[in-house]
Amino acid sequence: MKSLKNQITVALIALVAIVGVVDSLASYWLSRRQIGALLDVHLQGAAVWMAAGKVGAIGASGPPQHSVDGFVGQIWKRGLEQPTDDTDPEVLFDRAAPEGYSVERIGGNLYRIYTLRKNDGELTYQVGQPIAFREQTAGRTALQSLAPAFILIPLVLLAIPLIVNRAFASLVHAGAQAESVGIGRLKPLDIPDVPAEVRPFTDSINRMITRLRSGIEAEKRFIADAAHELRTPVTAMQLRVDNLARAPDESARAERMTELREAIARASTMIRQLLSLARADAQLDQASTEGVDLHGLIQKLVVDILPVAQARSIDLGAGRFEAAKVRAREGDLRMAVRNLLENALRYTPAGGAVDIDVYPSGADVVVRVTDSGPGIPEASLERVFDRFYRLHAADSDGSGLGLSIVKSVVRKYHGTISLQNRSDGHSGLIATIVLPTQHNGTALDAR
Ligand SMILES: Nc1ncnc2c1ncn2[C@@H]1O[C@H](COP(=O)(O)OP(=O)(O)OP(=O)(O)O)[C@@H](O)[C@H]1O
Ligand SMILES: [Mg+2]
Repeated sequence: MKSLKNQITVALIALVAIVGVVDSLASYWLSRRQIGALLDVHLQGAAVWMAAGKVGAIGASGPPQHSVDGFVGQIWKRGLEQPTDDTDPEVLFDRAAPEGYSVERIGGNLYRIYTLRKNDGELTYQVGQPIAFREQTAGRTALQSLAPAFILIPLVLLAIPLIVNRAFASLVHAGAQAESVGIGRLKPLDIPDVPAEVRPFTDSINRMITRLRSGIEAEKRFIADAAHELRTPVTAMQLRVDNLARAPDESARAERMTELREAIARASTMIRQLLSLARADAQLDQASTEGVDLHGLIQKLVVDILPVAQARSIDLGAGRFEAAKVRAREGDLRMAVRNLLENALRYTPAGGAVDIDVYPSGADVVVRVTDSGPGIPEASLERVFDRFYRLHAADSDGSGLGLSIVKSVVRKYHGTISLQNRSDGHSGLIATIVLPTQHNGTALDAR
């Protein structure tokens, strides 16, 4: 795993090292050049000075006599073989050297020479300096100019890891806090001194922790409720098993066996519903969705449920019944609509009527189930969506999960479910699901 801290430290160290080296090389080179130019000016100055006052002799107050700075001077006169004066007889320059600067090798040493002619070449003044001396002087001076950088750059290099470590200390602290977050300890991170750039990130982590906490609390409540509710059918099964064991004769045994079967069926229905709810609550995987023909799906559901309606002499009919497609998992939609239809049939007294509508409306699809039952008191219209909530718990054998399942499914597809009592003079409930035909950018033709 790449460490941002290491990356920044290495990058800064490399940068400072490169800048240091390039800067030192450039300063060294520039210093040497400047010192070379300065020495040239000296050379020229010495020649001019020598020519200004002296016609044929260098004299005591002439340029330094072969001194530490290595100056060598000589004066030539036209027609004479030897210089009229010189500071070092062993070092004689080529008197015909071009005017100005030139380089000459004498006795294994290279000399930088300045040649000046006067009186139409009658007099030639030459001042030279060993190049080795010049190089040495320039090199030494240039190196000295680097001394501050040689001290400062290592200090900067040492400071970089310290500064970066300090800057990242709050992140390390945040990391340690995040490390301690777990299912049992879902507390927002307490990191007041985190850098502003990282703040949006930690804020979103904190929001996520809060969401997780409320989600997990809801799950815990659900599991506790489910366990509590499952106790009832299990207790019923236990009682019936006991009854069965105590059956005095064959016919009583057969009767109690039927009761036991019913109790088992109820328990298994509840377990199936709990599973459906868990599935409806699960996150939507877009890949598993398809264009579902709601019109066809409801038609099949009505056919399946028709025998129940007929058995209770309920007139199951369709109102507005139009083609409508929604992008979803077919099983989810079937589960939602079936629960509404089951409720309508269960709570409508025998001889009543249940109508179902399905039609597209703008960018949505509407599914509506209208019954002629007792409806739901206004105060309970919201509460019936709560898990395990039933209005008349004693006289119906549902588990109170149906509407929570519908709500979970509808929410998953960004739709809405609403219940309202009929206002057309009849009693009864109208349950309306509105589902967008497109969600998460997936468009679908409604027809
Ligand atoms: N169409 C309806 N008419 C009257 N009351 C209704 C209707 N639909 C739901 N209810 C009330 O809302 C309550 C909750 O309904 P829900 O479907 O969630 O659970 P249930 O039908 O009792 O059990 P199940 O889990 O088997 O569906 C029901 O117990 C009932 O009192
Ligand atoms: Mg129900």
